[in-house]
Amino acid sequence: MDSPAVESPYELLLTAALLIPTTHYLLGFLVIAIVFLYNFLEIHFLRDLFTGFRGQQVELTFNASSKLYHDVVSKCKILHGRYLSTPWLCSPHLQTLFIHRFGNAPLVNYRRQLLTTADGGTLALDWVIHDDDVKKPTVTVDDALQHDGENPIIIIIPGLSSDSDSAYVKHLAFKMAKRSWNVVVSNHRGCGGVSLTSDWFYHGGWTGDIRTVVKHLHIQYPKAPLFIVGTSIGANMLVFYLGEDGVNVPITGAAAICSPWDPLICDRFLKRGFIQPFYSRALAFGLKRYAYLHKAVISRIGNWEGVEKSRYCRDFDDSAFRILADCKTVDTYYRCGCSSNVVGNVMVPLLCISALDDPICTNEAIPWDECRSNGNVVLATTQHGGHLPFFEGLTANSLWWVRAVDEYFTVLQSSLWSNPKKEVSYGNGKKDGNGIQHHEGTNGIQHHEGTKHTEEDLICGQEKQNAKMD
Ligand SMILES: *[C@@H]1O[C@H](CO)[C@@H](O)[C@H](O)[C@H]1NC(C)=O
Repeated sequence: MDSPAVESPYELLLTAALLIPTTHYLLGFLVIAIVFLYNFLEIHFLRDLFTGFRGQQVELTFNASSKLYHDVVSKCKILHGRYLSTPWLCSPHLQTLFIHRFGNAPLVNYRRQLLTTADGGTLALDWVIHDDDVKKPTVTVDDALQHDGENPIIIIIPGLSSDSDSAYVKHLAFKMAKRSWNVVVSNHRGCGGVSLTSDWFYHGGWTGDIRTVVKHLHIQYPKAPLFIVGTSIGANMLVFYLGEDGVNVPITGAAAICSPWDPLICDRFLKRGFIQPFYSRALAFGLKRYAYLHKAVISRIGNWEGVEKSRYCRDFDDSAFRILADCKTVDTYYRCGCSSNVVGNVMVPLLCISALDDPICTNEAIPWDECRSNGNVVLATTQHGGHLPFFEGLTANSLWWVRAVDEYFTVLQSSLWSNPKKEVSYGNGKKDGNGIQHHEGTNGIQHHEGTKHTEEDLICGQEKQNAKMD
């Protein structure tokens, strides 16, 4: 039978498609967009919902014979509990954005103390003012220290482009000050509104300023137990310092939060995927702002044209930090800045906290084996939390890691670990004030000599032990 009426099947399909109302199409697109966003932002709301908003168990990694674990960490309830993120921040990206944009930071007042380093650099130490001090008409820094100088002091090392004003730093400072411990934020050079007063800034593998500050506080308050917390790049620097100096650190307890561990792995990670490059750009943006503030010094040391053109973090590292650290290539600079290389040498109780969904300091860089092989280290990892936030509660005004560190330090302080306040010798026994002279005599354009020292500072691994004190 002849059937001339039969149209092309495609035409039929089109006719049928046109019969579907536009609103249905819109609805379809909306669903696709939501599914896309849900995955793109790594949202875990449904997962949290189906597990009854109980959160996920915190995972602890440590050596089976670790005294730190058995004496201290085993008594920390928070580390043996679960972490549940704020339900409306159930994505590492939302968390990270929120801590840096809004932060919900408590009100913290500081009193600033300026410290001059051996090379003429200026460090701003911001001491948290306790509520009862505010009423006093005039208070000096020494008054700001509670009691008789035997009260513990907590030193906070902020992350890249952060200072005492950053939300997460304030969360930690506020919590610690509540215990009436003395809290001091050790701002990086040029951060927190101070100028660079020598031809030197800071980079992620350099420990000079941490050593200076710790030594200064130890000499000033010999009876006060010193605790120290490093966050992000500050955690990398802290682990470096602890690993380099081994038993010669007057620290009672330390915590490394969201450390990059291995900048090379993090660099590769930040180049991958759709969303990571945004972070790399945001980091570069913060670094460039820092560079513009200190153009005179940074343009003298680094490659200013490169700094101005930096779009990604790696570009900035190449144009500024790599040159400061005197490394031939930016990858060499990254390789030498791996704190995972020295975590095995840490001799004081160290708690490390990282989120497995950290969008900047990827979990690929976490040195699981090294942490497991050193009895002085306990590593706590959570499924969620992002880079530094770990918001919890409906109002998102509490950070999980801040509570965890607070409990850990408290248990540590009351345990036998902290009792013997050991004598600390500083390397080759030189008794000069701040001691650390990585780059003296570097005034003017001549920084060849200085960078030679820092190269030693960057030698990976054990050889450092001898190189660090000039
Ligand atoms: C635990 O520490 C001991 C010695 O302190 C070491 O021999 C052992 O290899 C470590 N265990 C792991 C799993 O690294």
